[in-house]
Amino acid sequence: MIILKTDSEIEIMKQAGEIVALTFEMLKEHIKPGVSTKHLDELVEKFIKKCKATPSFLGYNGYPASACISKNEVIVHGIPKSDDYLKEGDIVSIDIGAYYKGFHADAARTYPVGRISPEANRLIEVTKQSFFEGLKFAYEGFRIGDISSSIQEYVEKNGFSVVRSLVGHGVGKNLHEAPDVPNFGTKGRGPRLKNGMVIAIEPMVNEGTYDCYTLPDGWTTVTRDKKLSAHYENTVAITKDGPRLLTMLDNEVT
Ligand code: MF3
Ligand code: CO
Repeated sequence: MIILKTDSEIEIMKQAGEIVALTFEMLKEHIKPGVSTKHLDELVEKFIKKCKATPSFLGYNGYPASACISKNEVIVHGIPKSDDYLKEGDIVSIDIGAYYKGFHADAARTYPVGRISPEANRLIEVTKQSFFEGLKFAYEGFRIGDISSSIQEYVEKNGFSVVRSLVGHGVGKNLHEAPDVPNFGTKGRGPRLKNGMVIAIEPMVNEGTYDCYTLPDGWTTVTRDKKLSAHYENTVAITKDGPRLLTMLDNEVT
């Protein structure tokens, strides 16, 4: 069942989303060679708590940290570790959720660590832009498949692949709600979008093939060919004024 949100609920979700956006702003300057992923996770946890919110992921289905930190061939759900350091040339995807006044907000960004290869940079940019290609259909009357197919088409046109086994989702009182929001699909198919729906659109884009698997830790999902993967996500409200990006600051440049 898709749960529609009222205007006042969307305002609360915007506040949750601002906490997530501010967490990324805080974190940016710490993303450099030599820092451990555990240190970044501690910064995230402290910051979210300072904002009087709770990290959405901590304890979710037993997840042991506040952020997912996924380097290079890790697609998503990388678990922060004290002996896992960022190094020059890495790309790192960071996924953060905040729970505030009864609602979640969920977002992810992929950052370069120092200087990275032109191809890695292109992967990051195509992943981000694919989100905005999907967003063009985040209006009442379109269908989920319009968002999905637009993301897939843009990514494949640029020579990359979209992950199939993980998808975006509705967001609200629960971190994951209906509907699924795949990054692949067919125009005109799937649930119809309605004002009041809130969804996390989150393309996961691989440099090589989309084939992936999960490590024995039960979380870390990696590309089978060990090539790079990037992730970009925002929580988006469908409103009568069009899509509202809940996890971006109003003055944030894209
Ligand atoms: N953005 C991720 C997702 O939607 C966050 C979940 S991570 C988990 O799947 F650790 F909380 F599961
Ligand atoms: Co998500």
